[in-house]
Amino acid sequence: MTMTAAAAAPPPKRQKLHGRAFYESIGSPKRIVAPMVDASELAWRILSRKYNADAAYSPMFHARLFAETEPYRRQSLRSAPTSDVESSQAYDGEHKSDRPFLIQFCANDPQHLLAAAKIAQHHCDAVDLNLGCPQGIAKKGHYGAFLQEQPDLIYKLINTLHKELDVPVTAKIRILDTEEKTLAYAKMVLDAGASILTVHGRRREQKSHNTGLADWTYIRYLRKNLPADTVIFANGNILYNTDVEACLDATGADGVMCAETNLYNPAVFVPVTASFEERFPRVDVMCRQYLQIVQDVTFGVGNPITELPKEQVREHPSLSSIKSHLFRLLHAVFTKKENHFIRNMLAKAHGSKFEELLKMAIELERVVEEQLKLTPETPEQWEEIMKEAGGSGADAKVLPIPWWRCQPYVRPTPQQAYENGAMQKSKKQLKDSKRELDTEFNPSSNTGEELPAKRQKLNPSTENTKQVDQVANADPNLQSN
Ligand SMILES: Cc1cc2nc3c(=O)[nH]c(=O)nc-3n(C[C@H](O)[C@H](O)[C@H](O)COP(=O)(O)O)c2cc1C
Repeated sequence: MTMTAAAAAPPPKRQKLHGRAFYESIGSPKRIVAPMVDASELAWRILSRKYNADAAYSPMFHARLFAETEPYRRQSLRSAPTSDVESSQAYDGEHKSDRPFLIQFCANDPQHLLAAAKIAQHHCDAVDLNLGCPQGIAKKGHYGAFLQEQPDLIYKLINTLHKELDVPVTAKIRILDTEEKTLAYAKMVLDAGASILTVHGRRREQKSHNTGLADWTYIRYLRKNLPADTVIFANGNILYNTDVEACLDATGADGVMCAETNLYNPAVFVPVTASFEERFPRVDVMCRQYLQIVQDVTFGVGNPITELPKEQVREHPSLSSIKSHLFRLLHAVFTKKENHFIRNMLAKAHGSKFEELLKMAIELERVVEEQLKLTPETPEQWEEIMKEAGGSGADAKVLPIPWWRCQPYVRPTPQQAYENGAMQKSKKQLKDSKRELDTEFNPSSNTGEELPAKRQKLNPSTENTKQVDQVANADPNLQSN
């Protein structure tokens, strides 16, 4: 679709709602799939919605490239079909399978952002601005969390969309150094016109090995000090289904956004009342369901699988992201040496040869079945595992989920990363961590509300050896945006 084509045939204008009225109009979503580059594409969103996600964000797109470059746009977003031939294929923002849907951009120029958002608005419920990306690429391109020092620019970016778009604008921020500064920042974003504020409870420097825990107390502080009708999504520290409710309780947010754990266990959003099997589905079953969705999305329901030329794979994000999804989904499977041949099959497979991935899925089913014959699961065993869940929220222990079931990846704490040599402290970090320790243990900074994330932060050793085992098998591509 060219920009002129999009401008030539705009769909009928919707009534534009703002803030809570908008949030309610999309069904007041509580469980939200985060924007994730190369990971929250159409097939993954469909899978997550099957497992109880109420809303989902697109991966972050680069606004200028999206507005100006047709191939980039084609790779980013599949538009609604224009002919019957295409009609068996799902598309981004499809009303029956992919809503509510928010499209996220990074930008540092209001006009580029507006041009991109004007195209995107026909495919989604709202357009989101990424103000949280802490990666080197965002620093270089000057976007995401690196706009924090330019509140006037942020205001202009959001306000331009607020005034000019037919759909609402939303924004995703990281917390700043203090609660007061974060509050002032949040107010500015809302004043500019953001209808939903997503707060990732980590600071800009909390990334890679230094990711650590999100601080829910900041989100709670915003909830208490922003106007009551502000719609807030809380983000960070979700490992288990219990954490979703715990986060809502602790922060008072309207919804919980989850990224990493959703990739490792797409069932993280199923209710806590669901059975163990529903909360931690078998990986072979999940893998099969996921591949079926990718197949339907890519080739059309009921259509034969064809081998696509490699360059065409790029135009199908659901296809080109398969391997990274499967590496995450199967991370616990690969902790077993006997299963390394499956990892090798996956490593050698390519999205263009879908049949190879199906062969891998058959092998996976076989090894899981064999394992279950050797060690059948019992409800008593599940009960035992769930007993260990202990409290709620980030206090939950790392559960001994068997390798054939989907489960979260637990990152090492920064402390563990220092200890195993994966991370070295710079002089500035040494100074900062001393300051942080001083404030943590200063009784005057105690709010009296010991929320789970805070408690665990004071006592990083509650996470344990199991983390280290899991880390040893981790996907090297892990990132925290
Ligand atoms: C693979 C991956 C890709 C991500 N891409 C984006 C992105 O495109 N836009 C964004 O705002 N955040 C992105 N993030 C950050 C997440 O949206 C989220 O803020 C962060 O991971 C913290 O949530 P979590 O603790 O549930 O993982 C990404 C995270 C991951 C793991």
